[in-house]
Formats: sequence, structure tokens, C-alpha cells
Amino acid sequence: MTQEANYKAELVGVFGHPVAENPTIVMQEAAFQAMNLNWRYLTIEVYPQDLADAFKGLRAMNMRGINLTIPHKVEVLKYLDEIAPDAALMGAVNTVRREGDRLIGENTDGKGFIRSLQQDVGIDPAGKKFVILGAGGAARAIGVEAALAGAQQITIVNRTPERGQALAALLNDKTATSASFVAWNSEYAIPAGVDVLVNATSIGLFPNVTEKPDIDFAAISPAMTVCDVVPNPPQTPFLLEAAARGAATLDGLGMLVYQGAIGFTMWTGLEAPVAVMHQALQAVFG
Ligand SMILES: NC(=O)c1ccc[n+]([C@@H]2O[C@H](COP(=O)([O-])OP(=O)(O)OC[C@H]3O[C@@H](n4cnc5c(N)ncnc54)[C@H](OP(=O)(O)O)[C@@H]3O)[C@@H](O)[C@H]2O)c1
Repeated sequence: MTQEANYKAELVGVFGHPVAENPTIVMQEAAFQAMNLNWRYLTIEVYPQDLADAFKGLRAMNMRGINLTIPHKVEVLKYLDEIAPDAALMGAVNTVRREGDRLIGENTDGKGFIRSLQQDVGIDPAGKKFVILGAGGAARAIGVEAALAGAQQITIVNRTPERGQALAALLNDKTATSASFVAWNSEYAIPAGVDVLVNATSIGLFPNVTEKPDIDFAAISPAMTVCDVVPNPPQTPFLLEAAARGAATLDGLGMLVYQGAIGFTMWTGLEAPVAVMHQALQAVFG
């Protein structure tokens, strides 16, 4: 018996500007190939003023979903039929999935971080004390997901007070965690009893690969898990110094892979080949 032909490709991708250096295609295409799926991931330059038209195009071409990167993560909220509760709290969407004709906004950044924490170092956020350096998009996503996963206490440490205060207030008002803000204008002394320390700033990101956050590294103990969101390079000076002091460490590459893996599953309904995706991105970052 002959099988009915189906040459139709399913389309997903990313809208951004600039977008040319976004490496997500490498891990998603590796996943599609590993799973023998006729899916394509397109890296698409969309200028800020064209986002509405880009969404018309996405709907017209029956694309199965899209990632959003700079500068579209907030603006995209206008063009969706529904926003997942955690993404609504963050006020930002990085992944859109389709349910029939409806476009649903999700945010997989914080979810990817939590999954990396659980699967790579076996830490359950419930009942833990977190310190998050930074209050930008990555910090917001991690703070919200850690709080929703039951973190007992979250301290936000940020250079610009307004952003840090706003994130701490959001967590206190909308989740059950106890959040506080510390202004970061000199070396930060990590308080005793912290379980998870996260660098959610861009300090250490390529090409500034020798920079590290201004903290008292002597306070890092083997009881602590120290995490970096910076994916490139995966081994930042921050993580190397924490590891030298005996802490368990988690790099930003793991978070990036898991957020992509969660997106893959949202789009395809299939379990993502995480190891294949990790290997593909690792090759990009060297
Ligand atoms: N691994 C992943 O999956 C993943 C996902 C998303 C993002 N990221 C990474 O997360 C990092 C942050 O991205 P984002 O989207 O959150 O950026 P963002 O919204 O621009 O926020 C940047 C944050 O870093 C702080 N910061 C930057 N330079 C600093 C410095 N020299 N000293 C002190 N604080 C500094 C900023 O403080 P102010 O508020 O004072 O400016 C702000 O809190 C980037 O490296 C990005 O690659 C990784």
C-alpha cells in the first residue's frame, strides 16, 4: 500500500532585529533532523514597525509558532489571542505557539532555567533562598518562575534601583515568595544561608569575557549552587571562581538549551532530544 504524499513543511522560527547572530536555528534544526520531522526554523529579520504585518504573515502561512527576540518580546503582546499566566506576570513573551487558529504567548526563559536547575544539579526551587543579580528580562523570567515553583525568599540585587524595586514588588504582590531589593553600588556581600546565586546580568557575555560581577566571592560556599545566564562563553570567570570555592555550578548554555527544548515540545507535542540540541549549541559556542 502506498502512503499518501505529504511534502508540506511545518514552519517555525524567530522574529528579531538584529537577528542574524541568533543561534537558535542550530539547535532546533538539529532536533528536527534527529526526530525526522519535516519542520523548518527560519531566522527572520523583522523591523519594529513591521511586527503587525509579520504576525499577519505568520497567520496566513499557518506557521506553527515563533520565537521573539530583541526588540519584540513586549510589543508582541498586542498580537496574541492569549498570554500564559507566567508570561503575563513577566510582561514578556519569547515563544508563541498555536492552538487551532489561536496564538498563545509563552515565556520559556525562566522555565528553561528551572529545568536546568532540577535536571542538571538536582535542585528543587521549593523552599530555597535565591539571590538574583540583575533585574532585566532574564532576571524577571527567573524570578517569576522560581517564585511560582515555591522559592521561599528572593533577593534582587541591581545597579538601577527602579528596575530592582519594581521586580521585588512584582514578586511580593503577585506570588507567595518573600522578595527584597538591594541596591548594587559597591561589592555585594552575599548573606549567609543563600541556596542559589544567579548572575542574571550580561556581565561576562562575549566579547567582555574577562568581566565578573562585583561580589564578595569569599562568601561562596560548597553548600551553594551558583548559576550564570550568560551562554557565551558557557564557562564565565564568575562560574570558574565559584567552582574553585566548591560550589555546584550551572551555565547559561543549559538554560538556553532547555528553554529551546520546552519550545520544541510546545510546538511539536514531542519530547525534545535535549542532548542533540545541547551538542549543536555547544559546537557554536566552542
Ligand atoms: N541562557 C539563556 O537562555 C538566556 C536567556 C535570556 C537572556 N540571557 C542572557 O541574560 C543576560 C541579560 O539579558 P537581559 O535580556 O536580561 O538584558 P537586560 O534586560 O538588558 O538586563 C540586563 C541586566 O544586567 C544588568 N547589568 C548589565 N551590565 C551591568 C554592569 N556592568 N554592572 C551591573 N549590572 C549590569 C542591568 O542592570 P541595570 O538595570 O542597572 O541596567 C540589568 O539588570 C544576557 O547575557 C543574555 O545573553 C540568557
